[in-house]
Amino acid sequence: MMFINLFLLLWTAFVSASSLAYQQTPGALQQVTDFGYNPTNIGFYIYVPNALVSNPAIVVAVHYCTGSAQAYYDNSPYKTLAEQYGFIVIYPESPWSGACWDVSSKATLTHNGGGDSNAIVNMVSWTVSKYRADTSRVFVTGLSSGAMMTNVLSATYPDVFKAATLYAGVPAGCFVSDTNQQAAWNTSCAEGQVVHTPAVWADIVRDMYPGYSGPYPRIQIYHGGADTGLYPQNYYETCKQWSGVWGYDYSKPQSTQVDSPASGWTRTVFGPGVQGIFNPEVNHSISIFGDEDMKWFGFTGVSLW
Ligand SMILES: *[C@@H]1O[C@H](CO)[C@@H](O)[C@H](O)[C@H]1NC(C)=O
Ligand SMILES: *[C@@H]1O[C@H](CO)[C@@H](O)[C@H](O)[C@H]1NC(C)=O
Repeated sequence: MMFINLFLLLWTAFVSASSLAYQQTPGALQQVTDFGYNPTNIGFYIYVPNALVSNPAIVVAVHYCTGSAQAYYDNSPYKTLAEQYGFIVIYPESPWSGACWDVSSKATLTHNGGGDSNAIVNMVSWTVSKYRADTSRVFVTGLSSGAMMTNVLSATYPDVFKAATLYAGVPAGCFVSDTNQQAAWNTSCAEGQVVHTPAVWADIVRDMYPGYSGPYPRIQIYHGGADTGLYPQNYYETCKQWSGVWGYDYSKPQSTQVDSPASGWTRTVFGPGVQGIFNPEVNHSISIFGDEDMKWFGFTGVSLW
C-alpha cells in the first residue's frame, strides 16, 4: 500500500513536471513559461517553423493595443514568412489593461530597467540558447503600440536588434508619463504635438542606454498621412529621431522613390540605416509589407549587409 502511494506520488510529480516543461511543436503557436526574468509578467508565445534552419534568425513581432499574440499570429504575415525563410517568430503578449505596451515608464525606457522591454529581450535570450539562434540576425517589427515598442526596443537594446520595421508608431521616448505610470496613454504625443530636433531625439535614444557606443539597428518607418489615432507628425519625428542617431542630415535625404514599395507610397532614404515610407491617403489601418520586411532584414533581395 505504502509502495503504491509512493509510486502514485512520483508519477503525479513526473506528469505535472513534464506538462509544464516546454516541448517543441513545430508549425504551431506555443506558449513558453519560465523563460527567465519577467518583471511585468508578459506572455511569451513562439512560432518555430516546420522549415526551421540551423542557426536561425529571430523576428520579434509585437501586437497593437487590444491585440494579443494569437491575433498578431493570425493577422500578420510572419508565420508564413517564417516557413519560407526558416526563422523563429516571438510574439510577446501585453499584460496591461487594453493590451497596449508599456512605452511610458522609466523602467521600460531603460536598458535592463526591469520593464516590458527587458522582459521581451529575455525571451530573445531564451530563444537564442534553446535554438542556437544567430545573434547577428535578431529583428523586431510591430504595429501601432507594437511599433512604439519596436522603437523602444531599438533604443534600449541596440546591442540585441540588428534591424527594425515599424508600422504607424511614435518615436522612442515620446509616449512618456510625467507620473511614471506604466502603459500610460499620452495624448500630446499621439496628436503629434511633441516636436524635437533630430539631435534632441537622438539624445533621448542614447539616454536609454547610457555608455553604449556601438551601432544602432537599421530602421524602416511606415506611416499613413490620414492617421487620426497616431498623427502623421509622429512619422516625421521618428524619421528625425533615427536620422539623428545615425548621423544623417534629416533635411537632405539621400533619395526618394515614388510608388515604392506600392502605388501611393513614397520611400525616403535618409541613409543606409534609415528609411521612411509614407502614404498620405492611408489611415491607422495600415498594411504590413511582409516581403519588404524580409528585404530590410536581409533575408531576400539586394543584400544591404
Ligand atoms: C507626454 O509625453 C511628453 C514627452 O514626449 C511629456 O512632455 C508629457 O508630459 C507627457 N504627458 C503626460 C500626460 O504624461
Ligand atoms: C481607413 O481606411 C480604410 C481603407 O481606405 C477604410 O476602409 C476605413 O474605413 C478607414 N478607417 C477610418 C477609421 O477612417
